[in-house]
Amino acid sequence: MKLIKAAAALLIGLATGVLTAPAALASGGGDHPYFRVDTGNLAGLQRGARDFMSYCAGCHSLKYLRYNRMAADLGLSEEQLKANLMFTSDKPGDTIATAMPNESADWFGAQPPDLSLTARARGPEWVSDYLQSFYLDPSRPLGVNNTVLPGASMPHVLWELQGFQAKVEHAAAADGHGAKKFELVQKGKLSEEEYKKFVADLTNFLVYAAEPARNKRISTGWNVLIFLFILFPIVYLLKKEYWKDIH
Ligand code: HEC
Repeated sequence: MKLIKAAAALLIGLATGVLTAPAALASGGGDHPYFRVDTGNLAGLQRGARDFMSYCAGCHSLKYLRYNRMAADLGLSEEQLKANLMFTSDKPGDTIATAMPNESADWFGAQPPDLSLTARARGPEWVSDYLQSFYLDPSRPLGVNNTVLPGASMPHVLWELQGFQAKVEHAAAADGHGAKKFELVQKGKLSEEEYKKFVADLTNFLVYAAEPARNKRISTGWNVLIFLFILFPIVYLLKKEYWKDIH
């Protein structure tokens, strides 16, 4: 009987683990009303991939992800891939390289890092916050700084979309209790809300890139749990049947 109780506890533990882990990831503890890790949303991932290729691949590579793997995972045909998401000189079996030559370190003061694993190493909320935290700072060589990565040598490449924001300096802002950290001083093409959604798509794409098998892992996990739940009563009845003459 002890064994059965232990097995049941283990199953329940596993199930609640699976159920609560994504919720914990999604809430992230910060203020992310538009950001939720959701790699099951293929339309969002496709937008993120398109935006990554347009705005980021000029400097950043995804050296662990191949174009054709990405196309298959995102539900795109090879024609769609070639027409929309690839540099013309690349082949579908290539990993996603950058157009940036190595000496770029001299241009920015830091080499743009490969972003394959950034969403795992830094966390998705960090990436989402980073892309929303560029602010005007005349003391920096490129005129912008970032509160998430102070002294970042990346230009604010999304300024056309977001516009430019200034950091709000008063004390209430510093402790982050509801006060706004930034104030938009030059409008971009997107509204504040649209920009958050844009960043969410891009971040979700980087979460996907960091673990292309993520969707498969989650669906396999569920199938295993469902299988165990169905198996458990059968095994329990079988055990009772076998032991009934002994007890
Ligand atoms: C003009 C070149 C350039 C472009 C375009 C660019 N970046 Fe960067 N990025 C950099 C450089 C340089 C750094 C290194 C910053 C540092 O460490 O000071 C960086 C750093 C980063 C980091 C921090 C990585 C880490 O772990 O420290 C992230 C995340 C990032 N970029 C995301 C993006 C995304 C998303 C885009 C597209 C919207 C983008 N970048 C476009 C040059 C660029």
